[in-house]
Amino acid sequence: MDLNSGHPTLTTLRHLLPEAAVAGGSFEAWLPPPSQIARKDRARFMRTVRDEATSACLRTLMQLAGLEDQRDIGRAPDGQRYWPLDYAGSLTHKGTVVLGALAPVRTISSLGVDLERTGGRELTSMQASIAPEGLPPGTPPGEGVLLAFCCKESVFKAFYPLERSQLEFQDVQLSWEPGPENFFNAIASCPRDHRIKVRAKVIEGWVVSAATSNRRAV
Ligand SMILES: CC(C)(COP(=O)(O)OP(=O)(O)OC[C@H]1O[C@@H](n2cnc3c(N)ncnc32)[C@H](O)[C@@H]1OP(=O)(O)O)[C@@H](O)C(=O)NCCC(=O)NCCS
Repeated sequence: MDLNSGHPTLTTLRHLLPEAAVAGGSFEAWLPPPSQIARKDRARFMRTVRDEATSACLRTLMQLAGLEDQRDIGRAPDGQRYWPLDYAGSLTHKGTVVLGALAPVRTISSLGVDLERTGGRELTSMQASIAPEGLPPGTPPGEGVLLAFCCKESVFKAFYPLERSQLEFQDVQLSWEPGPENFFNAIASCPRDHRIKVRAKVIEGWVVSAATSNRRAV
C-alpha cells in the first residue's frame, strides 16, 4: 500500500522546497481501527508501522533522485541518517504523517524539515524560552510560538550536519521577513556565523517548515 501522497503537508513541503526531491504522506490507511489492537500493544504497533512508512518515504526519495541502487539509509548513533554521498536529506514525523526531502549538495549543502500539529500543547507561555527574539508579524501568540518552534527544529536538523553540534532554542535568532500570503520566511542566525534560510506554512491544522543552508560542512 502507498502512503497518501495527496496529504496537504506533502504538497506544502513541495512548495517550501522546490529545489529538492520531496516524499512521504499519511500512513493512516495502514492502521487498523484502534479497537483491533490491545491497548498495551498500540505504541509498539504504531512505531512499527511508522518505521515501515519511513522506509517507504526513503525509497521514494531515492527513486526521485535516481539512486534506486542505494542500500538502506541507516541511522548514525547521533540520530542523523546516513544520506548518500553528495546528498543532503532530512526526515520528520508527526502523528500518522512522515515527510522527507533530499537534494544534491551542489544545490543545497544541508537541509532540515519539520512538521508540527496546531491545537496541541499550548506554547504561548514558553515564548521567552523558544522565541525571545519575537514572533512572525501578525500571528496570534500560540500560533507564532509554534511556528518559531517548528522553524527552529528544522534549523537544528540543517545545522547539525554542518558543525556536528546541537543547538538550543536560544542559540538561534529568527529574523522574520515578509512572505507570500500564509507563508512565513525567516533568516536564522546561528552560532559560528551560519545564516540558514527557513520557510514555513500553516496548513489545515499542521505547521510545515524547511531550512536550507548553502555553507559547506567544516
Ligand atoms: C533531533 C530533533 C530535532 C528531532 O525532532 P523531533 O520533532 O523530535 O522529531 P522529527 O520526527 O521531526 O525528526 C526526527 C528525525 O530527525 C532526524 N534527526 C535526528 N537527529 C538528528 C541530528 N542530530 N541532526 C539532523 N537530523 C537528525 C532523524 O532523521 C529523525 O528521523 P528518523 O529517526 O526516522 O531518522 C529533536 O528530537 C531534538 O533532539 N531536539 C532537541 C534540540 C532542540 O529542540 N533544540 C532546539 C531547536 S534549535
